[in-house]
Amino acid sequence: MIDVRSICAIGRRGQLGLAGRLPWEGCREREYVADVERFFAITQGHVLLAGPRTVASVPAFAKADRTVVAIRSGERPQDVLARYEGRVVFIGGGPPVWDAYARFIRHWDITRLPYDGDADRWFNPEWLVAR
Ligand SMILES: NC(=O)c1ccc[n+]([C@@H]2O[C@H](COP(=O)([O-])OP(=O)(O)OC[C@H]3O[C@@H](n4cnc5c(N)ncnc54)[C@H](OP(=O)(O)O)[C@@H]3O)[C@@H](O)[C@H]2O)c1
Repeated sequence: MIDVRSICAIGRRGQLGLAGRLPWEGCREREYVADVERFFAITQGHVLLAGPRTVASVPAFAKADRTVVAIRSGERPQDVLARYEGRVVFIGGGPPVWDAYARFIRHWDITRLPYDGDADRWFNPEWLVAR
C-alpha cells in the first residue's frame, strides 16, 4: 500500500505561491515559523513529490531526512506512485501537480495562515473531491 497524502499552507483567500516562493516568505511571526517547522516534522522520513519549481525552493538541509523528488508532466501519476510501495508519500504541489494527483490523495493537511496579500498560485478546493 502507498499512503498518499498532501500537506500545504494557504493564505486567507487560498494563496499558495508568489514568484516561485511562498507568498509569506520572510514573515517571522509565530504562525508562519510554526507552520514551516510543522511541515518538516510531518514529512520527516517520508517521500515528498513535487514539481520542479517547488523542489527548487526546498532547502538543501531538508533533503537529508526526507526523500525529495521532482516529478514531471511526462510521467503517469500511477507509475510514479508505484515506485514508493510501503512508503508515506506527500504530494507537495504546485497546482498542476495537485490537478494530476488529487484523486489519489486520501489525507489533506492544510494550514490556513493569516496572510492576505498577493499571489500567483492558488489553492483549488476541487482537489479535495477529485475523482
Ligand atoms: N503554500 C504551499 O504549501 C505551497 C506548496 C507547493 C508549492 N507552492 C508554491 O507554488 C509555486 C510553485 O508551483 P508551480 O506550479 O509554479 O511549479 P511546480 O512546483 O514546478 O509544479 C508545476 C510543474 O510540475 C510538473 N508536473 C509534474 N507532474 C505533473 C503532472 N502529472 N501534470 C502536470 N504537471 C506536472 C510540470 O512541470 P514539467 O512539465 O516541466 O514537468 C508543472 O509545470 C511556488 O510559488 C511555491 O512556493 C506553495
